[in-house]
Amino acid sequence: LKTEAPSVWKYKDLLPVGIEPVSIREGGTPLYKCDRLAKKIGVKELYVKHEGMNPTGSFKDRGMTVGVSKAIELGMKTVACASTGNTSAALAIYGAKAGIPSVVLLPAGKVALGKIGQALMHGAKVIMIKGNFDDALLLVRELCNQEPIYLLNSINPYRLEGQKTIAFEIADQLGFKVPDRVVLPVGNAGNITAINKGFKEFVTLGITDRRPKMTGIQTEGACPIVKAIKSGADNITPEKNPETIATAIRIGDPVNARKALAAIRESGGTAESVTDDELVQAQKDLAQLEGIGVEPASATSVAGLKKLVDAGIISKDETVVCVTTGHLLKDPEEVISVCIEPVVVEPTIEALRKAIFS
Ligand code: F0G
Repeated sequence: LKTEAPSVWKYKDLLPVGIEPVSIREGGTPLYKCDRLAKKIGVKELYVKHEGMNPTGSFKDRGMTVGVSKAIELGMKTVACASTGNTSAALAIYGAKAGIPSVVLLPAGKVALGKIGQALMHGAKVIMIKGNFDDALLLVRELCNQEPIYLLNSINPYRLEGQKTIAFEIADQLGFKVPDRVVLPVGNAGNITAINKGFKEFVTLGITDRRPKMTGIQTEGACPIVKAIKSGADNITPEKNPETIATAIRIGDPVNARKALAAIRESGGTAESVTDDELVQAQKDLAQLEGIGVEPASATSVAGLKKLVDAGIISKDETVVCVTTGHLLKDPEEVISVCIEPVVVEPTIEALRKAIFS
């Protein structure tokens, strides 16, 4: 009987860290078989890998346990990142656990409440930039070039090393069978690159015999990767004013674009964009058909799958894993804005009966 819950560090032999890691038990997230959702979408077998079940509520913990451990191993004294929110929350928490200060740059007015709350409470220096995420990333890169501050955005390869364990866990949880396809949201394009790398490593090691088609989903208001895939371009054309309800992936100039395009193409996958309305519907379907609460960006995976199945691009016979990257509680304001308001009644049985039954 294993008393230790599975985690990122189950795969420590495949991770580039030589010290006792800075860990709060990240990874080991559930892979739910979702038959009701599969039926609605029209695919044979659908699983959801719910990364919202990580300690800080997003997959960023997998990258940060490795990235912050590496910072400590290298003797770095301060860590920093630009973020749409989740990376900043994870950095603040792992920085706190490691006992080193963290600095996070956020796009002012465009970060979900739960994420700001985490960054603040865990003691990061939180700086709001009057610009979007792409502006903040350029700035933090400049800062880290000038100062001895360790940059922990996904340009940092150690972040992606941690995130590749999503692939290891999917294979592990399916009994070393690889799904036909993995569908996930794409923002700065690190995660799709990381997961693809994980599946490739398992094939190289002879643990699995094939790789899934990597399928990236963006929103119509921020979809440079989708446009490049559809036009066959070598690289993206940056979008100056990305806009979407899915603030986590409100990114116009993804830093890992070239790697992500390669991952999608070499795995035989594709990319698709969805509208905000489509992703909200998918968010409700996940919540109400499967009990899986996700933030808006995460729901793009399911919305994109539906769109690609409807278009006949994804076959109904495929076994698909959708990755839901962040938890519902990250963005309570969005939830309130897309759900019916609760009714307020007098504290009487008559009023209560009326509210429920009429
Ligand atoms: N889903 C969520 C919930 C995210 O927070 C992000 C990225 C993504 C998907 C996209 O992943 O960037 O690797 O393609 N959030 C970053 C952040 C940008 O700062 O938290 P990606």
